[in-house]
Amino acid sequence: MKSSVRIHPSILNADHSNILSEIERVSKVSDFLHLDILDGKFAPNTSFTWEQALHIISGSPLPVDAHLMVIDSDVQGPQYAEAGCKSVTVHVESTKDIKRTIRNIKSNGARASLALKPASQIETYIDHLDDVDMFLIMTVEPGFGGQSFMSEMMDKVSKTRHLIGDRPIWLQVDGGISKATIEIARAAGADTFVAGSAVYKSDDPAEMINALRALAERTKPVIGV
Ligand code: DX5
Ligand code: ZN
Repeated sequence: MKSSVRIHPSILNADHSNILSEIERVSKVSDFLHLDILDGKFAPNTSFTWEQALHIISGSPLPVDAHLMVIDSDVQGPQYAEAGCKSVTVHVESTKDIKRTIRNIKSNGARASLALKPASQIETYIDHLDDVDMFLIMTVEPGFGGQSFMSEMMDKVSKTRHLIGDRPIWLQVDGGISKATIEIARAAGADTFVAGSAVYKSDDPAEMINALRALAERTKPVIGV
């Protein structure tokens, strides 16, 4: 049966020297692969170079969900779509022309998504509700894996779910998702979950993904704010 939720493992903290085998470990049980791109300017960390990203995108058996934490997302968003990512997320804080960038990502064949840092409010971006394929509500400050889940973001998740209404827009959360927190985010209305350290720090990453999915599937979102 098709799952009611999506689990996207993040390889930010996986073994970068052996990245395709790290992806292989989760490829049978995941929906997308979450690829964090950090330029060291938008957030205080770097991740993969363009060449490393291309190697991952072309070698991944899973469709790639690129999360761009870069200052020139208007340029890089469409480039990651053209490179073969099936979903490209740009941050509202660094995208200068959101409408045009969403259009350019879609015209290069990818789903287009908008991410909000913890301080950004969803109400500011309701103009884009009829354009985007996904919203990403960050549940940590962008930059690093292994940070604590910010439960105070659940109001924003609920509001976003409410604003989405009947539109087929996915609602992703990213940061601190684990067995202890996934049900909280699902109850608030998220349906797409990024998990990094919970997956790659576990002895059996595939089993962890199955466990996360089972927890999210058994939780009913509380809709109607
Ligand atoms: C943080 C990244 C996340 C990170 C999540 O800036 O966007 O995708 O890899 O890692 P965990 O699940 O460990 O918080
Ligand atoms: Zn991410």
